[in-house]
Amino acid sequence: MKLTINLSLPVHSNMLRMVFSVLFFCGFAASQQGAFAQSSLERRVDSVLALMTLEEKVGQMNQYTSSWDITGPMPKGSRDSLKYTQIRSGQVGSMLNVLSAKATREAQRMAVEESRLGIPLIFGYDVIHGFRTMFPIPLGEAASWDMEAIEKSSRVAASEAAAAGQHWTFAPMLDITRDARWGRMMESAGEDPYLGSLIATARVRGFQGDDLSAPNTIAACAKHFAAYGLAEGGRDYNTVSVGDALLHDAILPPFKAAADAGVATFMNAFNEINGIPATASNYLQRKLLKGDWDFPGFIVSDWGSVAELIPHGVAANEKEAARIAAIAGCDMDMEGYCYVPYLVQLVKEGAVEESMINDAVRRILRVKFMLGLFDDPYRYCDPVREQNELFSQANQDASREVARKSVVLLKNQGNILPLKKDQGTIAVIGPLAADKDIPIGSWRGNAVENSAVSLLEGIKAAVGKNVTVRHAQGVKLSTGPRSFLTEVHVNETDTTGFGEAVRIAKGADVVVMALGEDCWQSGEGRSRTEIDLPGLQTELLAAVRAVNPRVVLVLMNGRPLDLSAVEPQVQGLVEAWFLGSQSGNALADVLFGDYNPSGKLPVSFPRSVGQVPLYYNHKSTGRPTGGEIVFWSHYSDEKNDALFPFGYGLSYTTFSYSALKLSSETMRMNEPLKVSFTLTNTGKVTGTETAQLYTRDLVGSRTRPVIELKKFQKVTLKPGESRVITLELTSGDLAFFTREGLWQAEAGDFEVMIGPDSRNIAAKQGFKLVR
Ligand code: NOJ
Repeated sequence: MKLTINLSLPVHSNMLRMVFSVLFFCGFAASQQGAFAQSSLERRVDSVLALMTLEEKVGQMNQYTSSWDITGPMPKGSRDSLKYTQIRSGQVGSMLNVLSAKATREAQRMAVEESRLGIPLIFGYDVIHGFRTMFPIPLGEAASWDMEAIEKSSRVAASEAAAAGQHWTFAPMLDITRDARWGRMMESAGEDPYLGSLIATARVRGFQGDDLSAPNTIAACAKHFAAYGLAEGGRDYNTVSVGDALLHDAILPPFKAAADAGVATFMNAFNEINGIPATASNYLQRKLLKGDWDFPGFIVSDWGSVAELIPHGVAANEKEAARIAAIAGCDMDMEGYCYVPYLVQLVKEGAVEESMINDAVRRILRVKFMLGLFDDPYRYCDPVREQNELFSQANQDASREVARKSVVLLKNQGNILPLKKDQGTIAVIGPLAADKDIPIGSWRGNAVENSAVSLLEGIKAAVGKNVTVRHAQGVKLSTGPRSFLTEVHVNETDTTGFGEAVRIAKGADVVVMALGEDCWQSGEGRSRTEIDLPGLQTELLAAVRAVNPRVVLVLMNGRPLDLSAVEPQVQGLVEAWFLGSQSGNALADVLFGDYNPSGKLPVSFPRSVGQVPLYYNHKSTGRPTGGEIVFWSHYSDEKNDALFPFGYGLSYTTFSYSALKLSSETMRMNEPLKVSFTLTNTGKVTGTETAQLYTRDLVGSRTRPVIELKKFQKVTLKPGESRVITLELTSGDLAFFTREGLWQAEAGDFEVMIGPDSRNIAAKQGFKLVR
């Protein structure tokens, strides 16, 4: 059927709705797969584009925040009422931070019923690790190495967000992070591009499902494109210098994986890369993403990052910033106030081609169509569903399941863990022990304050009546009010609670201490130069330890901490990140052995802040080893390696690796190599091991990392049980950005290594890659 639209008729929203329904009844459901559905989608997009004035097109490229939630600096005089006026005049394509089904319905009504064309808005929000039911922070979830769990967590988050009127999350954050000073490490999947790529795929699948128009899916956003995680000195928003090889080998793979998984949108980044701000980068946005990777979705700027081209010093004013960003391929201006005032004029002056505007608007409309918004703009605005779904028991159960999988056991001297549930006295001490807010974490969506199950509550709920649980806060972590928008004021002086803590520790069979960071010490704008336990917590630990050595330390933190002072003081060490709504219950599951810990670190934990940036897959350097004389690559006062390496994590059982075998001594470019080995549970309880396979490319046209994760498998074994694990390596797994600038594997000698983490290699063997 050929649809003709008479452009001479006065066009109004009703007319647009009629056009859409004609198309809809012709069976052109945008969610259908295949070329037919694709071309019908494109026709629907073009039919709308054909109706639009240049002003309306630029309006689609504009996104404002509402004042419900503020996630960046707002310009003076920013008022929702002015924004609503612009929605009515077709100058707004998207809003962020409009919360609740009711509020989104009202804003959507303005766009659909009151603007000339009635094009629906797309509502975006930072649904990073949950909407109302909170899951572990992304760094914590990454420690599960469990793609099903991560996909499930993103699906629950998407479903809750969609129930509250949201269409689009600004997640997953895919920045590779190597510097624990950077506060946004908490939002990342850690330091490894392979693990990061798998997680990128799992999260995109979880948020988007396979039908964006389904009521429980939302559009995802791969961010921050690119290299935001490499800020110099770990200071947020700081300059980034990164060579081509590092960019392609380590930074881009998770973004490519997200694009391959069909992520609907990308967000560019605040940082510059080698002198070009990411928002102004034609190379990243037009050439690589939209060109080489053929990405059909749209790119949104980060908050105000178009206007920030001015302080970056590449644009003299907002008009120039708009021109540079639009030409570079940034399709939507988030809270930047540059596109609407200047893009129309820039097109009229010939400074920006209208075809670029058309391309941007097509991309935005495409995503709106795929979400089903043209078929029913109110499909996600259902207060009844919102009421029933948010924080439901089923979602709490899902959160607890993912949370316990995210816990990493770092030390278990003398098998102090698991604890007994049926006898004795447990002293639960520390500023985070009874806290119900901090475990929710930073980037907490629409979570309700103090809504997490505290560690103390979890322990009390888990133990039988013969166990006495005593609690003392010991010390306050911070002084004064805490908030998402302001700095945390750490308590450096008040030790009045020490006495009570020491008193209850003295008489206890075991002390569980909950120490770490305030969740507002990590996240955006929260870089730190010191990464040890803040405030007086190390002193509290020492005081408690002096009267009772049976201490299990539960750490809550958003980044790797320098634990060199505390690790020797404790017998048990449990990394709990910020575990979300079910934190206390999930931790009790682990502490009492109802769940045998299985998490593995997705980042290296340094021995000292002086080592960062620290990552396991480093290069060799020309002087990797040495001895008596000093002329080799090392520190005079500290070891080079991590305190706890990437991939590390213990269990209540033990595993052994044996019988490493390769299917051949040579691997061909088009023939996979099978790597097999036997994994045995050598302990007394059932447990899950994440068996890891690493490689080393011994000689390359460029220097290669000393070790790189290539595969892993999670395996659950009963005591005494063995299993032969077979993992397949292809030449594609060995590809890198070569000296010629090609993504390919080079023939030559390799090593394959297997083991429980990146340092404790259980066995290795060589093979040759041949053409
Ligand atoms: C700035 C952050 O960098 C980005 O990740 C986030 O999505 C936006 N603010 C919106 O809140």
